[in-house]
Amino acid sequence: MSADRSRLAVHGGVPAVPDGTIQKWPWIEETDERMVLEALRGPNQARGEHSLAFEREFAEWNGNRHAIFTNSGTAALHMGLAGCGVGAGDHVLVTAYTWSSSATCALHHNAIPVFVDIDFDTINMDIEQIEAALTPRTKAIVAVHLHGLPLDMDRIMSVARKHNLKVVEDACQAHGALFKGRKAGTLGDCAAFSFNQNKCLCTGEGGMFVTDSDEIRDGAAQLWSFGETRMPEQSRDYHAYALGWMYRSNEITAACGRAQLRKYPRCFEMLRANAAVVHERLAGVPGLIRPVEPEGHTHNWYNYCLRLDMDAVGWDGPPRVLRDAARKAIQAEGVPVSVWQQFILPEMTVFQARNAYGGGFPWSIPGANEGVDYSPDRFPVAQRHCDTYISLVQALRAPNGAKAAAAVAEGILKVFEHMDAVKTDAAKQFEGGSD
Ligand SMILES: Cc1ncc(COP(=O)(O)O)c(C=O)c1O
Repeated sequence: MSADRSRLAVHGGVPAVPDGTIQKWPWIEETDERMVLEALRGPNQARGEHSLAFEREFAEWNGNRHAIFTNSGTAALHMGLAGCGVGAGDHVLVTAYTWSSSATCALHHNAIPVFVDIDFDTINMDIEQIEAALTPRTKAIVAVHLHGLPLDMDRIMSVARKHNLKVVEDACQAHGALFKGRKAGTLGDCAAFSFNQNKCLCTGEGGMFVTDSDEIRDGAAQLWSFGETRMPEQSRDYHAYALGWMYRSNEITAACGRAQLRKYPRCFEMLRANAAVVHERLAGVPGLIRPVEPEGHTHNWYNYCLRLDMDAVGWDGPPRVLRDAARKAIQAEGVPVSVWQQFILPEMTVFQARNAYGGGFPWSIPGANEGVDYSPDRFPVAQRHCDTYISLVQALRAPNGAKAAAAVAEGILKVFEHMDAVKTDAAKQFEGGSD
């Protein structure tokens, strides 16, 4: 890359990444199209050969005894808590910074999320703080492998077993990621994957629930399909034995998932190779905090998350103002970065108002609100992360290769080289008070 680096694109310079360098996600090839068409023309639109095969193939690839194909990762999380026997008024520990449904899945089952602050380096739940967050009602942990970096599941399982808690892995972003060589989704009692638009394995929308336990699987399956005890492909009695939802998906989505799964090992390696290119190029850049991959953890780099070190760049204004100016400048260079989750979870209205179902329910269950404190200032590390990060989500994925990755790195580097100009923009923004 030898583009003119003298002026930022946001100030009229030449973008570091020429148009057409980065190819779009998801990567659709002839096999994807053929399998989807085959499903569309097939004898069943729901619960046919593609759905059953996708469950089998996913379970085999990931190393689980059971897999149930769902219409979202959120559905699979809810199924996990239900399958683990979490009930009304129980407490569920979850990280303070994640997607909202890592926590609202508890509310779906009338259970109550209790938040734990994050560890700044890994952006995952701070395992050290779990025991202090326990209450007599704590029944489970939702262990989120955020951005595709698995938690230290030896430590999570050890604290969970000590306190008789179930662990639902939120592997919605963690397809193929490993902890000590073992796949995300095989490390807790059960797990949820998402296949939504952004995910490394993408079917538009969709999800997979996995577990090795027959008992957890049966509870989850009942919730998944109308409270019935028989699978739709079996002879059903159409009897609701318990309160159930409709969390099933369809054949076209399953066919797409099967096609994507076939090439996923290749996509995983390509993404890791591209992330390595960016990671090496961005080493030692003043003011830039690169994401980590601790020993024994294999990241899938779903989100290569950059953070601005406000002290190192000499910015003492509101961190978001500089972060947003840097994000805009990087975007103008042709690198598709974004800001994903804008709020820490405890700050969100559903938790602040404690009014999921009206009447203050489920927090109004007698005794259920004890030990639950959603004051945002209890989660300073999550807040610092939330105020300073910029996400790089799709640009490093297949079919993009090393050339695109190098271009992405150049675009980011260029902005950090011109950080004084970015600070000037941010200062004007701050003084002007508008976006
Ligand atoms: C960490 C995490 N958990 C849960 C979900 C929910 O998945 P879905 O959108 O498939 O319901 C997502 C998806 O955005 C996620 O990123």
